[in-house]
Amino acid sequence: MTGMIEIISGTNRAGSNSRKVATAVESIYRDQGVSAQVLDIADLPMEIFHPDVYAKKPASLETWTNRILQSAGIAVVVPEYNGGFPGALKYFIDMLPFPQSFQNRPVCFIGIGAGEWGGLRPVEQLQQVFGYRNAFICPYRVFIKGVHHVFDETGQLKQDDLKDRLAEQARLFVDFIRRTEA
Ligand SMILES: Cc1cc2nc3c(=O)[nH]c(=O)nc-3n(C[C@H](O)[C@H](O)[C@H](O)COP(=O)(O)O)c2cc1C
Repeated sequence: MTGMIEIISGTNRAGSNSRKVATAVESIYRDQGVSAQVLDIADLPMEIFHPDVYAKKPASLETWTNRILQSAGIAVVVPEYNGGFPGALKYFIDMLPFPQSFQNRPVCFIGIGAGEWGGLRPVEQLQQVFGYRNAFICPYRVFIKGVHHVFDETGQLKQDDLKDRLAEQARLFVDFIRRTEA
């Protein structure tokens, strides 16, 4: 596999559960011997939110762009906000160069939500966006319902079945990436 897996934490909300899940997913990849790192859009430089950046991208965005362009694949952890994915995530996507950011790039999804549907809606909406951008969409998705109840007091995932589902997706995603590189 060429490059790392970037795990996007798909909201800029301070103290987000997406970040906790993304950190758990990062550990799962590393335990499997796979290079992976969290890309948390809460850390984006504030200047990228200026209206002028559509015309001229600030130098501070370059590190972020390069991480996407050099990635072997992208795992997106996306929370449900009002029946959809967060606007901050779409804004980040809109800041990236096209088509090269997502064209033929393997992408997988983990949806989280407070309710019963575990982020199904934002994941399916994102599949449409990444499909439009000709990404290679991995069919193995993970949905985490009742996300407020899945962490212990230190912010670690406490359910073995959930850890197993994430580990299975990680194995299948790496296999999927290798097949796309073959
Ligand atoms: C603005 C906002 C809108 C939300 N809308 C929904 C929703 O439509 N359905 C749902 O199941 N949970 C909804 N939630 C709950 C979130 O999915 C849940 O709090 C999750 O932890 C949010 O992800 P985050 O912690 O990474 O911000 C919403 C939360 C926020 C902050």
